Amino acid sequence: MADSACREMIIKAIIICLLKLAFSYSFRSCVEIPDSNHKIFRCVKCHESDITTIVSDVFPTATNLTVSRNNITYIQGQSFHHLFNLTSLVLDANYIVNIHKDAFNNLQKLQTLNLSWNYISSLHRDVFSDLHHLTKLLLGNNNLTNIDMFLFSNLTNLRIIDLCRNHLKNFSALVESISNLSRLIHLDLSFNKLTTLHHSTRLPNSLAKLILSNNNLHKLGCDKSFLKYVEVLDLSKNTLLSSKTFQGLNLEYIKNLHLSFTKVSAGKLLNYTNIQPRHIDFSGLNLKDHALTLLCFHLRDHQIPKMILQSNSIRVLNKNTFCNCANITDEMDLSQNAMKTTGCLKFLHCQKQLETLMIEHNHLTKLKSCKKSKKVYSLKSLSYRYNRILQVNGYAFSNTPKLTNLELNINIIAYLDHKALNGLKDLVTLRLDNNLLTDIYNDTFKDLTSLKTLNLRNNHIAVIFNYTFQYLSNLTILDLGGNKITQMKPHAFDGLKSLTNLYLDRNHLKEIDGMLFGRLHATLQVLDLQANHIMYSTEHTDSPFINMSRLLDLKLDAQEPNGINLLPHAFFRGLISLNSLYLTKNHIIGFGAETFDDLKSLETLTLDNSCVGIAQLKPGIFKNLRKLKTLSMVNMGITSFSKEVFGNLTGLKLLHLNRNAMMSLDISLLDNLTNLTYVDLRSCPLSCGCQNSELQNWTLSSKRLQFPYLFNITCQDHPGSFFHNFDTNVCYLDIALYLFSSTFTFTILLSLIPLLYVRLYWKFKYGYYVFRSWFGEQWRRLKDQEEKYKYDAFISYNSADEDWVMEQLLPNLEGSSFRLCLHHRDFELGRDIVDNIVAAVYGSRKTICVVSQSFLRSEWCSLEIQLASYRLFQEMQDVLLLVFLEPIPERQLSTYHRMRKVMLKKTYLQWPGSNCSDPNSAKELFWNQLKRALRSSNTRSQEKQNDQRRHDKEGTDKEEREYFMNHTPINDEVHYLMP
Ligand SMILES: *[C@@H]1O[C@H](CO)[C@@H](O)[C@H](O)[C@H]1NC(C)=O
Ligand SMILES: *[C@@H]1O[C@H](CO)[C@@H](O)[C@H](O)[C@H]1NC(C)=O
Ligand SMILES: *[C@@H]1O[C@H](CO)[C@@H](O)[C@H](O)[C@H]1NC(C)=O
Repeated sequence: MADSACREMIIKAIIICLLKLAFSYSFRSCVEIPDSNHKIFRCVKCHESDITTIVSDVFPTATNLTVSRNNITYIQGQSFHHLFNLTSLVLDANYIVNIHKDAFNNLQKLQTLNLSWNYISSLHRDVFSDLHHLTKLLLGNNNLTNIDMFLFSNLTNLRIIDLCRNHLKNFSALVESISNLSRLIHLDLSFNKLTTLHHSTRLPNSLAKLILSNNNLHKLGCDKSFLKYVEVLDLSKNTLLSSKTFQGLNLEYIKNLHLSFTKVSAGKLLNYTNIQPRHIDFSGLNLKDHALTLLCFHLRDHQIPKMILQSNSIRVLNKNTFCNCANITDEMDLSQNAMKTTGCLKFLHCQKQLETLMIEHNHLTKLKSCKKSKKVYSLKSLSYRYNRILQVNGYAFSNTPKLTNLELNINIIAYLDHKALNGLKDLVTLRLDNNLLTDIYNDTFKDLTSLKTLNLRNNHIAVIFNYTFQYLSNLTILDLGGNKITQMKPHAFDGLKSLTNLYLDRNHLKEIDGMLFGRLHATLQVLDLQANHIMYSTEHTDSPFINMSRLLDLKLDAQEPNGINLLPHAFFRGLISLNSLYLTKNHIIGFGAETFDDLKSLETLTLDNSCVGIAQLKPGIFKNLRKLKTLSMVNMGITSFSKEVFGNLTGLKLLHLNRNAMMSLDISLLDNLTNLTYVDLRSCPLSCGCQNSELQNWTLSSKRLQFPYLFNITCQDHPGSFFHNFDTNVCYLDIALYLFSSTFTFTILLSLIPLLYVRLYWKFKYGYYVFRSWFGEQWRRLKDQEEKYKYDAFISYNSADEDWVMEQLLPNLEGSSFRLCLHHRDFELGRDIVDNIVAAVYGSRKTICVVSQSFLRSEWCSLEIQLASYRLFQEMQDVLLLVFLEPIPERQLSTYHRMRKVMLKKTYLQWPGSNCSDPNSAKELFWNQLKRALRSSNTRSQEKQNDQRRHDKEGTDKEEREYFMNHTPINDEVHYLMP
């Protein structure tokens, strides 16, 4: 007995060893980013709260780890101790409140640590002490009220600290904590509760960027030279801050000072400090009308590259405003003001060098003709985004003839005059998207001969007339997506000699006009026809792409309302350069085997949701796609694959098969896919039976292949259990034996000779008796078919259960005149015990095994079950009845595979324990069932038995049904296990 348990332990240990030798290649909560060489891992939204559990199986090769949007509240000590090569650790958007002081121990190489968007209110002073290489520390959006003076003391490489959106009050303590960080460049303290910049130490000289916006600063209160080395200083939205507090401040190196929505006066600031006017952002300082003129006067001898005047409530700009002013050389930003008209940019007439003008987020409604206005030749880029422009009149840009970039998007332009864009010969980019345009005329773009990008997305254009774009011979990108185009005239695209990208997605096109697109064949590389109304009802349509030998990217996904339906025969013929093809959401009725034949360059194929009902991919369908790297077939209703489907996909790296209908996947199908690194099998109804045992083993032991979220995949046929750990040991009898005999024989021989001796002894003995009984049975059958059994049942039990047998079983069954064989009573004295058992099993109509924990541990009982199940399988003699005296955990049973094999043939009986609600009637029921089972014939076929079982269930009373419900038989599948 002890010997048997010991043997089992050794076998288990060896199996565990084997599994550990191979990499387990899926992660409980994480995914390795494909192609990242085991370096980049994401563990996002895994509903797990224990950080050590989440990261426990991440490979030590990891360099970048993101653990975001989980339910983590605490970071334990040594949480990442095995991830010593991490350079980036992102823990944002969790519920972290506390962090153990040793949490980040060992992360010597860490460069980036992101703890933003948590609930951290304090940090132990040693928590970052190992992070010598940290350069970026993000702690924004937490509840920090204080920073320990020594918190950053070891982080001598730190360059960026983000502490925005906390509750920090004490600036002085903060400065102390960072004062030795000689590489610190960037400190963000916005959205805290600082009231002054009072300090006891100096800032590191390296600190160039200090963000203090949205605090409660009412005065600075710092030394005059405290900010001397700062280059970017943001003090905006400290609404109480006034000019006076800047008096005498040394702002020598400032390049960018933001003061919007403070009480600071620009003029006074210039008087009080040594700041250069060109380094001030003049936004939000109430600079309009007279104040603006005054400021200008102040600046009149200066050169200002960027004049930023956002949010100053400016309504109108006088044509002289910027005359007695600085020379603005580069950009003027007037966004977020209240201008109703541009006045043909008369206010720029004194500015001869300005190149960029932005008037976004104002109240412009109309762009009038500026034909007669003085020209602003310097202007190259003009943006009127986010206004309320409804109408653009002819010659609206005649005053700015040198524009190269014009942004009119996000307005409500419904009327764009034929001549609106007249004269813009240098224009390269024109944004007209997100307006209300319905018509474009064939002379609208007449002068735009330099245009390269034309964006007309999200308008209401319905028809593209002939020659609309005829002058745009340099155009490379034409975006017409999101319109209402139903019709494109045959010459609509004439003249587009350089077009590479054509976006026509989300329109109402009903077909693909091969002639029309054919005209673009020499240059076109990207064609987006997503979400139109393309549908075919016959297979006999010529390929519309026959000439498109340069096309690289074709999107045909999500045709409205119900998809393409019938993909015409050889539909993609001619697309020999195509790299990516998107056919998602198309309800295609079957793909012909030749569908993708021409796509020899294809690297990405997306067929998600593209089928109706159950799809069966034709053998050879991907035969030419040797360059395919990504194949996505999510939710296609695929039930199985034949080997020829994947045959030639030798370049395939990523395979997405999630949400399909297959219950198993034959891994030999994937044998040829030597470059495969990632197979997504989520949400497939995978069965946890032996047909998937190889798949399971493979998913867990493959080194090159990742199966994302494998540990979340459940068993379709065993609700509540998981695919990754269903018991496949029994399926591996042969392999295991092979492993034993080949790989481990030597070891075992050396170390386990005594055990092996016992093991072989029993094997021989079993084999011998099994053979002998088989022979005996054959002989008996021939000789005496009619021979009566000596007993109705042989009772096999362990001596520990003798009381129950003698007190319950015997009286009940012998009382009903069954003849029982009990070993202590009926075995022949002096005969070998094994012979006795054989004789008993064959001399009884049934063998009843009384199963308990002690029974499972007994060597003899295994032999009895073995013999009885031998009769069951080899002779179709159904002789075994199992009576469970106590609930036996599934796991334990599964190690007794033969018993499980029996259980799929038989209903087992559970002895109702004393904790049963109505023990007496349950026991009565038990005896009735046992007797019925004893009386039943031995030679029923399996089907009959099942029928009988079902019949029994339905035919008996409610009580019995309930009894059955509470004692569900073990699932009907075969598990084998090493003996
Ligand atoms: C850690 O990084 C070093 C240097 O880049 C490398 O040599 C080593 O193999 C890495 N260790 C692991 C476990 O990836
Ligand atoms: C997060 O964890 C807390 C306890 O740690 C639990 O009460 C809460 O329900 C969890 N939330 C989610 C979304 O799992
Ligand atoms: C990985 O982390 C390093 C160090 O922070 C960073 O420079 C790099 O961009 C990260 N790589 C990716 C792919 O996120």
